[in-house]
Amino acid sequence: MALLGDLPVASFDSYLRDHGGEALETALELAPEDVVDEVANAGLRGRGGAGFPTGTKWASVRQAAADSRAWLVCNAAEGEPGTAKDRALITANPYQLVEGILIALHALQAEEAYIGIKAAFTEPIERLDDALLGARTAGWPGADRVHLVPGPDEYLFGEEKAMLEVIEGKLPLPRILPPYMQGLYATVTDPNPTAVNNVETLAHVTHILRDGALQWRSVGTAEAPGTMVFTVTGDCTTPGMFELPMGTPLRTLVCDLAGADEIQAIFSGVSNAVITPELLDLPLDFDSFAEAGTGLGSGGFMVYGPHRDLVQVTATLAEFLAIESCGQCNACALGTAAMADHLHRLVEGVGTEGDLQEIRSRLDTVTAANRCYLPVGAQLTIGSMLEEFGTAFADHVGVAADPDVAVVTPKIVELGDGQVVYDRHYARKRRDWSYTDAQGDAALPPGLAQGPKGLTQG
Ligand SMILES: Cc1cc2nc3c(=O)[nH]c(=O)nc-3n(C[C@H](O)[C@H](O)[C@H](O)COP(=O)(O)O)c2cc1C
Ligand code: SF4
Repeated sequence: MALLGDLPVASFDSYLRDHGGEALETALELAPEDVVDEVANAGLRGRGGAGFPTGTKWASVRQAAADSRAWLVCNAAEGEPGTAKDRALITANPYQLVEGILIALHALQAEEAYIGIKAAFTEPIERLDDALLGARTAGWPGADRVHLVPGPDEYLFGEEKAMLEVIEGKLPLPRILPPYMQGLYATVTDPNPTAVNNVETLAHVTHILRDGALQWRSVGTAEAPGTMVFTVTGDCTTPGMFELPMGTPLRTLVCDLAGADEIQAIFSGVSNAVITPELLDLPLDFDSFAEAGTGLGSGGFMVYGPHRDLVQVTATLAEFLAIESCGQCNACALGTAAMADHLHRLVEGVGTEGDLQEIRSRLDTVTAANRCYLPVGAQLTIGSMLEEFGTAFADHVGVAADPDVAVVTPKIVELGDGQVVYDRHYARKRRDWSYTDAQGDAALPPGLAQGPKGLTQG
């Protein structure tokens, strides 16, 4: 339990007493490129969803910044359904994250660092404020160049190109070029390459510099060293967060620790193909999951038992993606909405074979000219369900779902002591990013002057 620890770290002073600051001291004694090498030698892979090697990302940003200035962004948006680990990590120990950010600032020789975090995450924000105050008061180099940016609730806030927009004071609409080509406050002459890293990734950096790459990589597998913090919710007896060595079997996490018994389907968020029970012996690492045709995502597993209606599950996840699609790319805006509509018709019992054909044809086109990965997630989530559970969809033609078996959007607000609280306001969110009020009228969330999708969807 290197990252989560047994108990929350109470204060900056107690962190200092438990080796806090030693990793930063070690890093500052090294040349920036040697810190990058240490992280690369540790084999750290990003915990934000794609498992991209952090050392490689940092080396590319440094190279791209040879004639420009570099920037750093810590992604604490945590918008993926079924995931709550970044909030748990910040609440348990915000100090190791701040230390990791300062190490990254030095390694990248970056101007400033921004932490993009949802304004709704009030407790983690308070903990980060405390950690930043402690670091500034202690005079940790770079601490006065780290800024908190509270952002909107939208899923796309966590998409790295959209997060840069929010930090610049705009809406969470992904820009076209990746952050290493068009970073924060980029101009035609200054691309300002930016490294965007997940909370957990940067927290690991502290442990790599403290323990040394060799020691750090003694846990986990050769290709995916270290631990990862996994979230398990849904049809299991003890939903929660579990920090495990990478390579641990999925079965240990989902069945032994979270107490799932009979399983029909598992999702690791909404960016990857469904995981069927035959895959329970897969080791929890990026490559094994990719070879099996799915992905680890950010390690948040949503379990669906045998009593769940899988068409309803698919419709719920599809609706989430239809709502969250920002509407800048027509194929994504229209395709995610159409697929969700056809799935709702099947759930309501008015669907036909024609609805299924429409979904299949939208799956082929939904990613056309996409600026971001969201519609790829829709393609994988919905497409894999049709492939794996085709009979359930065919049987739903003309047959309504059981109204007594609910399927909620698994957007986690709180997870602790074996209890999970989902965002009850989400059911009121509309596809133009407004919310209906109790009377069913549109109510705009604070911070959004207009539903940006209204521009293209009409
Ligand atoms: C729609 C969408 C939402 C995302 N949401 C998050 C998020 O909430 N947190 C996160 O760390 N990464 C999120 N990502 C991935 C980021 O774009 C980015 O790859 C990640 O922050 C990189 O960090 P890492 O290299 O440390 O994994 C999202 C990606 C997409 C396409
Ligand atoms: S692909 Fe979809 S979510 Fe991504 S920018 Fe385009 S419309 Fe928005």
